[in-house]
Amino acid sequence: MSSTSKPATVSSTSQWPVTAYHPRHQTWPYKPSDFTRSDPSSDSSFYDAPRFVTHIDDHAIASLRAYYAAVLPQKGRILDFCSSWISHYPPAIEDAMKKGELQVVGMGMNKAELDANPILSSRLLHDLNEMSEIPSAVVGSEAASEALDASTCVVSIDYLTSPREVLTSLLQRTNKGGTVHLAISNRCFPTKVVSRWLRVSEDERLQMVSDYLWFAGWRDIEIVNLGGKDEEDEQPDGGALQRFMRSMGMGVHDPIWVVRGTKE
Ligand SMILES: C[S@@+](CC[C@H](N)C(=O)[O-])C[C@H]1O[C@@H](n2cnc3c(N)ncnc32)[C@H](O)[C@@H]1O
Repeated sequence: MSSTSKPATVSSTSQWPVTAYHPRHQTWPYKPSDFTRSDPSSDSSFYDAPRFVTHIDDHAIASLRAYYAAVLPQKGRILDFCSSWISHYPPAIEDAMKKGELQVVGMGMNKAELDANPILSSRLLHDLNEMSEIPSAVVGSEAASEALDASTCVVSIDYLTSPREVLTSLLQRTNKGGTVHLAISNRCFPTKVVSRWLRVSEDERLQMVSDYLWFAGWRDIEIVNLGGKDEEDEQPDGGALQRFMRSMGMGVHDPIWVVRGTKE
């Protein structure tokens, strides 16, 4: 992004319920054992074969696209980390990328998946559990004018064993005013997800990811419920029945939230 262009704001999302995060802890509250996994083997082997599937349903994808259309910048540079063959970006982002006004960098674990992702202007294989630093290649150079304006990560933050370090490094690669958007749902590869994720409720996962961002130095942290008011919050029982049905594997749609932060 040039130093004169305006970074994305996160204010144009009033169609979805937004909850401000309030820090709950003075110091990092998590233990190393929270980030162990039942399959500690190399992630490179696990992701060696491409998976040309979608990890959230069409309803959640449509919500995420609409959200991205409202918040992502159409100029500058975006990183989709933990990326695959699909980034769920809306047509406006694709147009901006094709016009060369926007660089979309994809970073992931499988070459065939990244090669098949049409929204990406450049691709990078990188295991964030081996090396938590975001490589300088995502910004082209160390020059601030080429730093990130926004980053996205879809249903993957739960696989990272050093999320605070990754998000700290991401902050360093981001322009002032730039944003990060971590999309969260409730499906996962259980053997590869960090252990605390499997032990806590959906609400606690959202707080935990907010804690990740806070302790990495991100600010204006918010939780956006892309399931929307009709889906859950305006149910007479506050969504309790929907949450129960989901917990029994009978949910109507995949839930989808974004935990987001801004670089001050
Ligand atoms: C459930 S998939 C989601 C992929 C993609 N974001 C999407 O929505 O289709 C989880 C992704 O996390 C990424 N991932 C898992 N472990 C990783 C690691 N150690 N380092 C970097 N990325 C990792 C992989 O790229 C994998 O595709």
